[in-house]
Amino acid sequence: MAVGFDKDRLLKPLLFIACLVPFGGLLLGIYEGDLGPNPLETATHTTGDWALRLLLITLAMTPLRRMLHSPWPLRLRRMLGLFAFFYACLHFLIWLVLDQELRWAAIVVDIGKRPYVTVGFAAWLLLLPLALTSTRRAMRRLGRRWSQLHRLVYPAAVLAVLHFLWLVKADLREPLLYALAFTVLMLLRVPWRRFRGARLQREPVRRAG
Ligand code: HEM
Repeated sequence: MAVGFDKDRLLKPLLFIACLVPFGGLLLGIYEGDLGPNPLETATHTTGDWALRLLLITLAMTPLRRMLHSPWPLRLRRMLGLFAFFYACLHFLIWLVLDQELRWAAIVVDIGKRPYVTVGFAAWLLLLPLALTSTRRAMRRLGRRWSQLHRLVYPAAVLAVLHFLWLVKADLREPLLYALAFTVLMLLRVPWRRFRGARLQREPVRRAG
């Protein structure tokens, strides 16, 4: 039991530091003036990539718990989800401040006109209430509605993958890989065993008929 306790205590801070590594890399790149020929593009891509990766890693925690028969993946889920939102906010802010230079009229037009921006913005909007209700207090206050609300993570992930698919012009391999990862994660959530059990129960009845 003591081993499990130590592992839990170590895992969270280690994961916290690991999640900050891409952010640290960006800050270091800015400090050293080493973000490549197009620093704005590098920053947008890095934050977008990590927002999506962490969102998918968050979705992997429930199937992982089931596979490992251990509760630790669920203990990391909230932190991973909040880091996904952190990178999504940075990504959005970089676009708002550095790309659009806070020209609000142009921003509204862009969100309405360019489908990949519309979809990205919708994904961010869906993640917002999840981050705001991620505290234990909100969980207690919302009761059963909390789980219903947090199902918004699935359409948010679909929109985030779609956002990536939509903005890529030529090489679709990377966004398709994310789409595949999302599909696999969703399939892992299907209770196949229960489904098979129900079919086996029905079989004799069908044969008898
Ligand atoms: C808040 C609204 C959002 C806006 C305005 C936005 C805008 C952008 C822009 C301008 C790009 C670069 C496009 C290009 O280089 O042609 C981009 C790329 C990307 N965004 Fe977003 N985005 C938003 C939300 C999101 C969210 C919520 C996610 C994920 C959870 C996300 C994930 C990505 C990814 C993965 C890329 C591609 C990165 C790469 O090429 O490596 N975006 N986004």
